[in-house]
Amino acid sequence: MTLPVNGFSKLSKEEKITWLADQHFLNKEEGIKTIKQYWNTNEQLQVLHDEFIENTITNFYLPLGIAPNFLINGQYHTIPMAIEESSVVAAAGKAAKYWQKRGGFKANVLGTEKIGQVHFMYSGAFAKLNDFFNSIQPKLFKATNSITENMQKRGGGITSIELRDKTNKLDNYYQLHCSFETLDAMGANFINSCLETIAKTFKKEAQNFDGFTSEEKDIQIVMSILSNYVPNCTVRAEVSCKIEDLNEDKDMPPKQFAEKFVRAFAIANADPHRAVTHNKGIMNGIDAVVLATGNDFRAVEAGVHAYASKNGSYQSLTNARVDGDTFYFWIEIPLALGTVGGLTNLHPLVKLSLEILENPSAKELMKIVAVAGLAQNFAAVRSLITEGIQKGHMKMHLLNILNQLGASEEEKKYFIKFYKDKTITHSNVINEFNSLRSKNDSSIPK
Ligand code: MEV
Repeated sequence: MTLPVNGFSKLSKEEKITWLADQHFLNKEEGIKTIKQYWNTNEQLQVLHDEFIENTITNFYLPLGIAPNFLINGQYHTIPMAIEESSVVAAAGKAAKYWQKRGGFKANVLGTEKIGQVHFMYSGAFAKLNDFFNSIQPKLFKATNSITENMQKRGGGITSIELRDKTNKLDNYYQLHCSFETLDAMGANFINSCLETIAKTFKKEAQNFDGFTSEEKDIQIVMSILSNYVPNCTVRAEVSCKIEDLNEDKDMPPKQFAEKFVRAFAIANADPHRAVTHNKGIMNGIDAVVLATGNDFRAVEAGVHAYASKNGSYQSLTNARVDGDTFYFWIEIPLALGTVGGLTNLHPLVKLSLEILENPSAKELMKIVAVAGLAQNFAAVRSLITEGIQKGHMKMHLLNILNQLGASEEEKKYFIKFYKDKTITHSNVINEFNSLRSKNDSSIPK
């Protein structure tokens, strides 16, 4: 049974690990060895990682893979992806090659508006609140000058502050709904700092407003925070080609492929169970690049899924259509990303990932990430409507199973060849592996 602990964050790293081992590990020595195995030998680098969060005990590795050959708006990109799922990078590479031969991806940013809100309660008439708001709006902007100065010099800042009446949803509830342009920064800290200053100024000015009764003057600020729902910070990525050029699937003629592909989207739009999985496939690509570039994948996930529900039911983030002799496939998603600030200047692998992408602006990164999502979705749906997902998936997963079994490099090579033209399942790999080992013959068959 675990015991509670006081002042844990104040303990040294070694003390934390000792506590952990005492409380949780059957084999303390083994547990501690595993933790320390993942420490970086470069002490400075380890301290950097230790200080990203509280109570760091070790590092948690994810593979960083690269998917080359992404032709986007006429230029080639190599896309870094941080992800553990075995087939994702392979699928991205395949989709990149497929569309490279068909004119590549086109992408453009539709908007970059970020949102933040001050949520507050007010008990008087809306007309009075509106008069007050109009009278002090310039002061709200002015109060943030010291925070927005640098951003403004570069063409960004607070673009609007609106008063919103939300009393039809909740009694006495109003908002200051603020829009921001944060350029190459994701802008979370910038936005939240602005909002807290706006909220303080708003509350203080209310107390001096003659038009309010003493009760009305007492505006209650509930919270000030950015919104991760950014429906006007969106990007569109697309591919298209002649239907006759969809000719790489041996067992399916191009016209049938295009029709089945479009039907897969109709199904996703008709059923949330399918739509969620369909969108999960898109997020395989998106999250991997968002993570590799040090962006906040939880913010992206939350915003993207809200966007998928914008028509009242949860639907596909991508679309496909056949028009005459042409096949069109596209994605439109909200993405609040940054290429400066946050982890971008700190984490050496994030810096490297951005370098691989040739140090993009936030807008360029939005395009690349959207393309990664579209490509991933194309690869998944293409497999699903043709040979099925498991063939490619299990081919990539084979190495994981063999590693779990403790296969040698020679055995791995043997099984990759062995399964080239056979169906892979978890149990038959175990059986084949055991049977090979039980032959008790050190030589691997050629
Ligand atoms: C698996 O990670 C992703 C898929 O399930 C996506 C999809 O079903 O479209 C293959």
